[in-house]
Amino acid sequence: MSQAGVFSPIVNDLSLRGYSVSEGLLTKTHVAALAKLALTRHEEGGTAQARTGKARSENESLRGDSIAWLDADSREAPVIDCLAMFDALRLTLNEQLYMNLHDVESHLAIYPPGAVYGKHLDQFATGPQRRQLSLVLYLNEGWVSANGGALRLYLDESASDQIDIYPTSGRLVLFVSSRFWHEVLPSNRQRLSLTGWFRNRSLFGP
Ligand code: OGA
Ligand code: MN
Repeated sequence: MSQAGVFSPIVNDLSLRGYSVSEGLLTKTHVAALAKLALTRHEEGGTAQARTGKARSENESLRGDSIAWLDADSREAPVIDCLAMFDALRLTLNEQLYMNLHDVESHLAIYPPGAVYGKHLDQFATGPQRRQLSLVLYLNEGWVSANGGALRLYLDESASDQIDIYPTSGRLVLFVSSRFWHEVLPSNRQRLSLTGWFRNRSLFGP
């Protein structure tokens, strides 16, 4: 199947509902290599407590993960290959949904057991709006629903309609950043992901 063909369920779901959930875009070996990289960075002290725009005291209760930003110049093979897949997806979305996605920013995230990320939006409707689409690739081999840790996506503003997506290895979730409130529920084991955002071009530089 052509590259665009591999992405066509994502294109369809994004255009119909504004979010998509897919599996198997990266091999198991590849996902395992990314998980190993996240753990190595964490063990070597290469991750930092994640922050939000809010005060730190508030922040720690809102968000309990540690992150390591990924560099587009990374020389690590699993990162290069994953970013190449994201780039092919970005170009397909630009072509087929007439989007204007310019680049991706991404980080590895490690949630210790019990950590959450409270209900939030990745992009507010006011202010500079670079984040167009959120992407989350999960790196957790053997995750079961009893482990908790779902991404809860609120499908409408009244929050009456919601779906829980479990962070199983190789699953990729995309959603419109300014449209869906979401949260990460607590889990009983460490939870790894690679999270990114497709962004528009900045008005103020590269
Ligand atoms: C985020 C986020 C969701 C997840 O990092 O902004 O919402 O499932 N992550 O890890
Ligand atoms: Mn988020």
